[in-house]
Amino acid sequence: MDKIIIKGGKKLSGTVRISGAKNAALPIMASSLLVEGRTVLTNVPNLIDIRTMSHLLRIIGAKVEYEPDAHILNIDTSNCSFWEAPYELVKTMRASTYVMGPLLGRFGKANVSFPGGCAIGQRPIDLHLKGFRKLGANIRVERGYILAEAKELIGNHIYFDKSSVGATANVMMAAVKAQGTTILENSACEPEVTALAEFLTKMGAKISGIGTSKLIIQGVKALKPITAEIIPDRIEAGTFLIAGAITNSELTIIDCEPKHLSSVIEKLRECGYKLGIGENNITITTNNQQPTTKPLMVSTAPYPDFPTDLQAQLTALLSIGQGESIIKDNIFPERFMHISELNRLGANIKVKDNIAYVKGVEKLIGAPVMATDLRASAALILAGLAAEGETEISRIYHLDRGYEKIEQKLSKLGADIKRIY
Ligand code: UD1
Repeated sequence: MDKIIIKGGKKLSGTVRISGAKNAALPIMASSLLVEGRTVLTNVPNLIDIRTMSHLLRIIGAKVEYEPDAHILNIDTSNCSFWEAPYELVKTMRASTYVMGPLLGRFGKANVSFPGGCAIGQRPIDLHLKGFRKLGANIRVERGYILAEAKELIGNHIYFDKSSVGATANVMMAAVKAQGTTILENSACEPEVTALAEFLTKMGAKISGIGTSKLIIQGVKALKPITAEIIPDRIEAGTFLIAGAITNSELTIIDCEPKHLSSVIEKLRECGYKLGIGENNITITTNNQQPTTKPLMVSTAPYPDFPTDLQAQLTALLSIGQGESIIKDNIFPERFMHISELNRLGANIKVKDNIAYVKGVEKLIGAPVMATDLRASAALILAGLAAEGETEISRIYHLDRGYEKIEQKLSKLGADIKRIY
């Protein structure tokens, strides 16, 4: 099995390009099922999750071609006639459930495997199903599959009990084809949801309130296939900024969207780092003394607050530094599997309920560690970059689901990092 070996302590410098956002690309790929014809997506990252979604679209009958160097994805949905997302795919990627809304919208039918457990805790999909029911779908669970059927989807007023990226996206994709008006209240406002709403609008959907928690959708009979560009990945961007901070280096991320990173920029400034913001680039610099990181109180919460997908990486940063930090995860309260691995590297972190109490230490020392999920893998890489000596990270297959060529990007910046097979 692949491993990543890092010899820590190297300074980073230079410029790194941020890839397209996986979490924006996945629902947009699924929404191509709403039309008949060829959708072309640019700036699509070369990731396992993108290949998994492509595979699922092919099972449904689409022709999908990816040009990895150009990052262009062609999806031809002219001959789709199947409406099932099999267990084998849903169990490897929960976002497979994103085909449910578009399949309901196009065929009035979807049969999608119930997603199972997940390393970052309980992840129900009750809000997705509540939304589909409100649009008139009949939902049954049989042999581990959710069968949703509707002769006709009818617009309705839907209030989400919790802000959910997945439920907002999924229900929105069905509602664009429903008869009449749908109002989605307490919708998620994450940039990836906004990107999907803008994509659907370009296809001909009628959506107002985009970027707010109240989306008003006027159903249309037909949509048209389009060409569109995937927005930059704010989580990859945040991860590289933290890489600069944790190695006490100066580096610039380019082709990013700084306005999607306000809470991250704010927190890094509170830690004592300097961030220079350009139109589509950010430079992080430090005062060159170790350890510089000041303690923080951070709570993850829906956008525009601090993202749960950067909680593990920020915890790695705060583990080396001054004083005691408190990090609360309000989105996924059990998302702390990385803590015991960070402690193996010498961090001093205790977890109680959904709060990590981090006592900053002077340094981390390299050791063998194991990645448990996508963002935990990134946190261990960051810790390894700063740790003294060698860190060996196993189970890194999670990384390739969400970070395009992370070790090559870090090597180019000067890190001593390699993958062994
Ligand atoms: C998406 C992201 C994930 C990110 C998360 C939160 C993708 C593919 N994944 O996941 O990387 O960490 O947003 O920003 O875009 N919930 C329910 N019932 C539901 C749905 C969600 O109770 O039906 C809860 C979840 O358990 C969680 C909260 O709502 O506590 C937010 O989850 P949600 O925004 O739905 O996350 P995902 O869409 O799964």
